[in-house]
Amino acid sequence: MTEVQELVRSLTDRHGRTRESLLPILQGVVAKESYLSDTVMTEIAKQLDISAAQVFGTATFYSFLDTEPRGKYVIRICKTITCDMHGKRQIAKAIEDLLKIKAGETTTNKKFTLLEANCLGWCHEAPAMLINDTPYTKLTPEKVLEILTDYMQNK
Ligand code: FES
Repeated sequence: MTEVQELVRSLTDRHGRTRESLLPILQGVVAKESYLSDTVMTEIAKQLDISAAQVFGTATFYSFLDTEPRGKYVIRICKTITCDMHGKRQIAKAIEDLLKIKAGETTTNKKFTLLEANCLGWCHEAPAMLINDTPYTKLTPEKVLEILTDYMQNK
């Protein structure tokens, strides 16, 4: 059995093989591998006996389920209206200038990926971003540089 088959097998053993198991299985793969490769999605389809298109459709519908390799730290900046009105653009620019990447890109050392996301649920403390699962709020360009410098040096 290949590593991918084993991973999917352990997740289907844990979550079951019905359609309802698809999302927890996909999340399980992302937790372990950080993204969903075509091979893994095909294997899930096989083991759940559904079409690969169905697996792929679900994976791309949930923007938190990455289908491309990502950096160790995935930065998600909120692009929804409240954050936008509270200076999201300056925040994005500060990050882009510091890391030398644009939204959708990963740094060459594979440490950071920058993504834009819809409302993260922190509108009352806008502008907001997530680094992996950690929320950072009431951001200013200075605050963002401080946070990222800490990640660059200490993590
Ligand atoms: Fe940005 Fe809700 S609008 S967190």
